Amino acid sequence: MNILLVGNGAREHAIIKALSESRQKKKLYSFMSAKNPGIARISDKYTIGDTCKPEEVLKYALENKVDLVVVGPEAPLNAGVVDALEDKGIRCAGPRKIAAQLETDKTFCRSLLEKHKVKSNPKYGIFEDYRQACKYLDSIYHDFVLKPAGLTGGKGVKVFGEHLKNKEEAKEYIKEILNAKVGHIPKVVVEEKLVGEEFTLQAFVDGNRVVGAPMVQDHKRAYEGDKGPNTGGMGSYSDKGFILPFLTERDYQQGLEVMEETVKAVKKETGVEYKGFLYGQFMATKSGVGLIEYNARLGDPEAMNILSILESDFVDICQGMADMNLKKNAKFSRKATVCKYMAPEGYPENPKKDVELTVDENAIKKLGGGVYYASVREENGKIISSKSRSVAVLGVGNTISEAEKVAEKSMQHIKGDLFHRKDIGTDALIQKRIKHMKELRK
Ligand code: AMP
Ligand code: GLY
Repeated sequence: MNILLVGNGAREHAIIKALSESRQKKKLYSFMSAKNPGIARISDKYTIGDTCKPEEVLKYALENKVDLVVVGPEAPLNAGVVDALEDKGIRCAGPRKIAAQLETDKTFCRSLLEKHKVKSNPKYGIFEDYRQACKYLDSIYHDFVLKPAGLTGGKGVKVFGEHLKNKEEAKEYIKEILNAKVGHIPKVVVEEKLVGEEFTLQAFVDGNRVVGAPMVQDHKRAYEGDKGPNTGGMGSYSDKGFILPFLTERDYQQGLEVMEETVKAVKKETGVEYKGFLYGQFMATKSGVGLIEYNARLGDPEAMNILSILESDFVDICQGMADMNLKKNAKFSRKATVCKYMAPEGYPENPKKDVELTVDENAIKKLGGGVYYASVREENGKIISSKSRSVAVLGVGNTISEAEKVAEKSMQHIKGDLFHRKDIGTDALIQKRIKHMKELRK
């Protein structure tokens, strides 16, 4: 079987690694926008091109007689890469553009859940008009969050009391969004701020069945102690089993049910089945679980947490999603994982770019850590960063604490003008989360 991976971040590095570990006979192809050294090494063959040009991806897939395509990032989904491939009879583990709107248009997502009575929306309003948005803002008394409707690489959301100091600042931001200075759709979602602990629930979906993976918690803020601007995610962890230490089986089930109902709603609304990865970002609150957002892909870094401990055959899973016949469950080893990201100094606001970095992969391997290359390119044997997160490392262990130590020690073998968050996965941080949920739910 010829399998083609589209994308070139750390998530895609994790995807191709999991594909390569399948017992199925296969040839692995990659279509990347820049040469990711990790992906290039695992691929039997790769090319560099524009992952958001469906006709280019299609041409490469046809030339290489590709049987199955796995799409990693959201931008190619939004560009209609899956549509172009499927229309020519090539199977894809990934949603068509209309179904991917769950991620690519936040107004589609909120309206869909409301219309189909999937209970998980916070209170919200959608606006195209500045005055109406401001009027709504002035009429609400709870804390709120502002979101551009379109894609922003995870950096568009601003939370009142954290990124926005007062309503004047909020109104300025609304103006920016409606002038399409942030995101590509001039619409703003104003929504109630949910209070609790966040978790990510990733699933494999075949149009009908939703097969869940262990819960993960990501860290969106750039600096230690959850301070600073939002990023694509600075690191993430999962516990042994499926449940995070400060959450419950019930939180997991509620999240999964919301995702199942959403998949049904997509079919009803669009006539198209949702298949591929689905990422639900939830807030576990005092009174149940609320949806923060969906992504039509795996998370980055959260993909590393689950794919590294996946015991089921990943090629079987990708085929199951594409052919809409997934098996009921996926097996994961009972291990905890901690993933940490190295990012260029100044990221995300003023990142140094074209920083050369060195990664001592052997030393990290000896520690038991895994390396996943992200926004870097290999040039003349050197690894050069771009403006986004550079390299992720993953530790696996019997406890989160054990996994954290592996990840943290591994970080010492990556050199360059980079920084990372030392607090992710530490006991102190986990205890803080436990205390928070206990107080909230007492
Ligand atoms: P997103 O880009 O939608 O993942 O949002 C980035 C971050 O903003 C999330 O990880 C949350 O921390 C926060 N956020 C988004 N929506 C809400 C909400 N309704 N309530 C509280 N926090 C939110
Ligand atoms: N880690 C957040 C995301 O992948 O969107």
